[in-house]
Amino acid sequence: MEQSLQVDILKELMRQLDEGRNIDAGVQYRMSTTSYVCTDQAKKEWQAFFRDHPQLIGLSGELPGPDTFITMEDFGTPLLATRDKTGRFRAFLNSCRHRGARVANDARGKASMFTCPFHHWGYGNTGELISIPNEDHFGPIDKSCNGLIELPAVERAGLLWVHPQPDRQLDIEALLGTELDAEIASHNLGDLAFAGSTTIDKNLNWKLANDTFGETYHFQKLHKDTLGRLYLGNNLHLTEYGRHHRFITANGAIHGMRELPEEQWALKRATFVLYYLFPNIQMVCNEKSVSLIRIYPDPENTGHSITQVAFYYTKDVMEEATGETELSRDDVYDAERRAGGSPNLAASLEVFSSTISDEDYVMGEMQQQAAENGLLKEIIFGRNEPALHHFHNSYREALNQPPLVPVTS
Ligand code: FES
Ligand SMILES: [Fe+2]
Repeated sequence: MEQSLQVDILKELMRQLDEGRNIDAGVQYRMSTTSYVCTDQAKKEWQAFFRDHPQLIGLSGELPGPDTFITMEDFGTPLLATRDKTGRFRAFLNSCRHRGARVANDARGKASMFTCPFHHWGYGNTGELISIPNEDHFGPIDKSCNGLIELPAVERAGLLWVHPQPDRQLDIEALLGTELDAEIASHNLGDLAFAGSTTIDKNLNWKLANDTFGETYHFQKLHKDTLGRLYLGNNLHLTEYGRHHRFITANGAIHGMRELPEEQWALKRATFVLYYLFPNIQMVCNEKSVSLIRIYPDPENTGHSITQVAFYYTKDVMEEATGETELSRDDVYDAERRAGGSPNLAASLEVFSSTISDEDYVMGEMQQQAAENGLLKEIIFGRNEPALHHFHNSYREALNQPPLVPVTS
């Protein structure tokens, strides 16, 4: 990111802190709580945003070298993503062409071949069907057109993108817009190594899970003993990029920036830089790490969602920790301590452990119950919560729903 932009953002946050004000959208909105419980809407969201929309599945470090793979089923498509021996990223439907069993059944690993557990058809990590046991019994099969079904897959600026529909095009620059696409590239995400992941399974709608990343109003209240020790709360710099946005809030190190010449001001040292990528990604970019949060609905239950959190660290932090490329969660904590206790790194662990699961999503489960009860008809988004205005208006626009209604009295 350009130094002049970093300075402008830091100056705006300093002004907010000095003047004791937060960002001000100048408008409040009401929203019906049916958005969190309506099964018709949930069906449309599942189809439009998950079954038939580009999906960010991780950073490049998920596939750390040739002949590595990951699998997932979070968005309704059994997915096998591989890096072949040439280093190329590919994605396939993880379904055997014989009778549909999953050919890869580990979450991640190293493999150049996959053997379906059912009847042992064998596939290369480039998708081709290589072997059929007892082929003389089975009868003739043209192997050249019975490989795994390939899905559109693009690795760009350190991000792994997949489209769940085989016949779609993936144009990431068009998806993000030129400006956001270029800014994301400036973070060098491809240099980060995968360090660990966790799954949070809670009884709240996927949009309530997203909402917890949409304002700084609660930092010093709900998180006063955790994230609030690192982040000042009640300040926000927000930039919208179409349906996506960038959300930045200051940590305690912002005050120290005032003592330095502006050319030494470093945004990621003094703030929490979060990108919301439509529809379900919250990506926190720190100085030496990234926390990638992927949030998925449960298509059978509007009041349930799955959040996948993955951590990626710079290779120097990883090597300092163990000399290995994959670390346990304890190793990650140790790596962070050795890195010098940067507030941003500590915050990523807060986000992971206590903040999301034990604090934010506990509120989200209460909000879900209130919505399901049906008596609380509406909620209100304040002037200091513009990222929530943007999130809700973005998916509403994508679903051809009317925008949020401003509060007039
Ligand atoms: S279903 Fe895969 S080999 Fe039969
Ligand atoms: Fe929070």
